Amino acid sequence: MNAIEIHELNKHYGSLHVLRSLNLTVAEGEGVILLGANGCGKSTLMKCMNGLERAQSGSIAVGGENVIAARGRALRKIRRDIGVVFQQFNLVENLSVFQNVLYGAMGRQPGGLLQVWAPFAPGEVRERAMHCLERVGMVEKAGNRCRDLSGGQQQRVAIARMLMQQPRVILADEPVASLDPKAGHEVMTLLWDVVREHKMTVFCTLHQLELAEQYASRIVGMKAGRIVLDTQSASASREQLLDLYQGETRVDQSSPEVRQKPLADKTDTESLEAS
Ligand SMILES: Nc1ncnc2c1ncn2[C@@H]1O[C@H](COP(=O)(O)OP(=O)(O)O)[C@@H](O)[C@H]1O
Ligand SMILES: [Mg+2]
Repeated sequence: MNAIEIHELNKHYGSLHVLRSLNLTVAEGEGVILLGANGCGKSTLMKCMNGLERAQSGSIAVGGENVIAARGRALRKIRRDIGVVFQQFNLVENLSVFQNVLYGAMGRQPGGLLQVWAPFAPGEVRERAMHCLERVGMVEKAGNRCRDLSGGQQQRVAIARMLMQQPRVILADEPVASLDPKAGHEVMTLLWDVVREHKMTVFCTLHQLELAEQYASRIVGMKAGRIVLDTQSASASREQLLDLYQGETRVDQSSPEVRQKPLADKTDTESLEAS
């Protein structure tokens, strides 16, 4: 079974056609990096994948479950298996590191909020949270408030919270965009290591080409709401990657009919030469 299967996906915001007949398949255990200029639709694609936004047509299956059709309890069940990591960490800044990691277990504890609230959480849950913090090297900060941590430390906590959730698929939207290069490298290494340890699938947007080349086993490139590049990272040329940032890249500045370029395969440079 594929971890992610997207077929002919269309997403509009009012008159803005953001995702344009988009097709994508990601196998279980794959580590894919999605590249593309600002405004090409990367975050919208991520949001559609975990049901935060609803597409108008096409299909999305994550872990074999139909995301678009799911509502209420069924959608929550799908979301439980999808971990998310954001540029802005999305931690509760005034609460402790430990409490933030406990929240990761929310979707899996039948007792709900009380079971993930530090003073009442069962020993087994507290222990698992400490293990997750240990894995990201943040045990010493368990009692600190998140807002007192550096950006790199906060993203480590967010990764611990994601581990606590025990998802199958990770969607990471610009996870290192707010970090300096050193912290960015450390967080990418950590994220990629934990994903591999747990045999999870990861789909991650980045805007640093160097990081993409370094970490991805597969690079997918987007331009104006479409996928225009899909290649093994080792075979992606710099020109192919730079081309993603040239011409009509934003969905709000390009015509919806923008010609779909042929997908570049491992050695193909025709799409570049044609442009
Ligand atoms: N909630 C929204 N309502 C209206 N337009 C939106 C919304 N979210 C994103 N857009 C527009 O959709 C386009 C793609 O945005 P986005 O998916 O955030 O791109 P990226 O993540 O690649 O920078 C942009 O033109 C953006 O302004
Ligand atoms: Mg974005």
